[in-house]
Amino acid sequence: MQVRNVRSFSAAKADAVIVGMYPRTRAAAGTAAVTKALGGWVGGALEAAGFEGESGQTTTLPNPTGSGPQTVVVVGLGSDLDVESLRQAAGYGRRVLPDRVRTIATTLHRIDLDGAATAVLEGLAFADYVFETYKSKSETRADLTVELIGGPSDVETLAQAAAAVSDMVWFARDLVNEPPKGKPPLELAERVANVAAGAGLSHEIWSGDELHENKMAGLLAVGGGSDRPPCMLRLEYSPRGAKQHLVLVGKGIVFDSGGINIKSTEFMATMKSDMAGAATVAAGVIAMARLGVKTKVTAYLALAENMPGGGAQRPSDIITYRNGTTVEVGNTDAEGRLVLADALCLAAEGDADLIVDVATLTGATKVALGPKIAGIYARDADLAERVLHAADSAGERAWTLPMPTDYRKWNESNVADVKNSFGTRYGGGIGAALFLEEFVSDKPWVHIDIAGPAFVDDTEHYILKGGTGYGVRTLIELASSMAG
Ligand code: BES
Ligand code: ZN
Ligand code: ZN
Repeated sequence: MQVRNVRSFSAAKADAVIVGMYPRTRAAAGTAAVTKALGGWVGGALEAAGFEGESGQTTTLPNPTGSGPQTVVVVGLGSDLDVESLRQAAGYGRRVLPDRVRTIATTLHRIDLDGAATAVLEGLAFADYVFETYKSKSETRADLTVELIGGPSDVETLAQAAAAVSDMVWFARDLVNEPPKGKPPLELAERVANVAAGAGLSHEIWSGDELHENKMAGLLAVGGGSDRPPCMLRLEYSPRGAKQHLVLVGKGIVFDSGGINIKSTEFMATMKSDMAGAATVAAGVIAMARLGVKTKVTAYLALAENMPGGGAQRPSDIITYRNGTTVEVGNTDAEGRLVLADALCLAAEGDADLIVDVATLTGATKVALGPKIAGIYARDADLAERVLHAADSAGERAWTLPMPTDYRKWNESNVADVKNSFGTRYGGGIGAALFLEEFVSDKPWVHIDIAGPAFVDDTEHYILKGGTGYGVRTLIELASSMAG
């Protein structure tokens, strides 16, 4: 994304301009320059188009004058505009314009909200996403250029920050949208490690014997049924002067067939997205490095493929973890918690001030909260609140779900310390969170279940159907808040 400041509407070289409008008052926000250039506000035309200014509404008008952008896109700002609905308005604006429009002017950044310009740039960039790797007729697109009419003087800094975030949201989406064939665990690890190295992060990959030596029981058990072996990727971002250490853990199941407890057609269809947690933590830590966030961050990506091959684990198998805990595998489709447990053991051994895991963990959390909201689970209500606050500030939706201690008995096993499944579908997200708790010792820890928002069926504002990159912004916000 290129961003430049232009003095006036008529100085803009863009093909189109996106302006905003509030409902009822019909007053446009930050559009005075455009209004003037058009020889008066376009109220009559808007009325004719039935445009009310509600959020999500858009209308496209031709510019009758010869100067400036020839297309005017008016986006509704709704009655309670905040930075997130502004980000969405920018997304709606980008999406009504054809993809071939590569230069867009706007006045939306002039709305009087903290962070307005960054949100507008993000909304435009997120909505500009395409996944065309496998389209035989795709053409290379020019970078998107945004002209901020009467933009701020620190436009360069803003542009860099918005690009750090949007590049990494794109990266997370690319990884999730990649078909499973194109992302064997080791190749995925190398692809992520290369991008991370480009941002100055160090990394380490454990595979084969190293997994055995380090007692990565979950990865070995889950990955055993696939011809494409599992691995653990550790990324580290260690900025000078950091006072706090955030440890991130991501579920990276490149395809979840269910294993021997194989899934039905309907539920298997989107399971290339089961590595979204890993994509989110990787994209998040790389973005933090690009932004220069002053928090030390370690990320563990537990990467495996859950397949029902000859080497697959069987229901009723028992595995022994690095921390000594034994687990009875009640259901091979509850594989996420098995691989996360390996990473959580590692996380709990270090000096983490906070451990956060991100995972497409349970259908139950998706049933509870639907496709737009993530579930936050923590033993400590204040910690849950902290992560919820980060999500709110980032404009990502989340909700706290409980971890009642009397439900711990669900995970009891007759033959091992714990079991990875239990006899009821109800409260499945909670049972999974209580299972993970067994591996974090007494460390401050929060679990984010992104089974709903990681991958969606519908396009809306800056979110396109498929991988969403959900969680990247929440993690950045959280790491930034830890830097003080
Ligand atoms: N990857 C799934 C959870 C999931 C479901 C993610 C829908 C995204 C959308 C997970 O591995 C799984 O299969 N969980 C089971 C657990 C059960 C077998 C105990 C579930 O939630 O049904
Ligand atoms: Zn599963
Ligand atoms: Zn899964």
